Amino acid sequence: MSRGLFITFEGPEGGGKTTQIHRLVDSLRSQGRDVLPLREPGGTTIGEKIRALLLDLAESPMQIETEALLFLAARRELVQDRILPALQAGRIVICDRFADATLAYQGYGRGMDLAALKALNAFATVGLQPDLTLLLDLPVESGLQRRKMDPADWNRFDAASLAFHQQVRQGYLALAGAEPGRWRVIDAARAADVVAVDVWRAVGEVLAVI
Ligand code: TMP
Repeated sequence: MSRGLFITFEGPEGGGKTTQIHRLVDSLRSQGRDVLPLREPGGTTIGEKIRALLLDLAESPMQIETEALLFLAARRELVQDRILPALQAGRIVICDRFADATLAYQGYGRGMDLAALKALNAFATVGLQPDLTLLLDLPVESGLQRRKMDPADWNRFDAASLAFHQQVRQGYLALAGAEPGRWRVIDAARAADVVAVDVWRAVGEVLAVI
């Protein structure tokens, strides 16, 4: 059975993940590589419905456990329906957020127990781990400022407190520090072109060893 490559993008709000993923997908495709871009929550019919529920400003307050379980349910669908079959077919899967987001947002951000969330993640993902995770890191104030430029897209998480977003960012940095083999931390406060060079370099290193 061939095994593709699983790359995830993480980070606080407004770090430019979507732009960087588009660029990376284009570059990889121009090399003739078979790439599947996905996002979390989403990427399946059920996942997109769960996404709408989770981001809806009208669904506040929501129990934090409900929130976590909804993300995990969407993840389960994505892993089984899209990610595992693509990896088994040898494709490169690039996912905009994955299991680490639950640790950063629901764990460090909302204060849920990290060990419990890790166990739930393992259950939802059948133990699947990314080969490479890129943390697009930037100060939360500048990220939220960027998000405000797109008011139609403003969601339940954007509306959370600054302290929440700061805990999320610190959580991501702690996760990256604990597993430096898998994570690359990229300064996303710089121009998109400069960030793209670092993204390309990090992906190139992983492609060189598979
Ligand atoms: P996005 O803005 O990157 O599309 O992600 C949607 C929001 O959902 C974002 O604010 C991060 C949040 N989120 C969690 O809180 N937990 C998770 O497990 C995931 C995947 C996303």
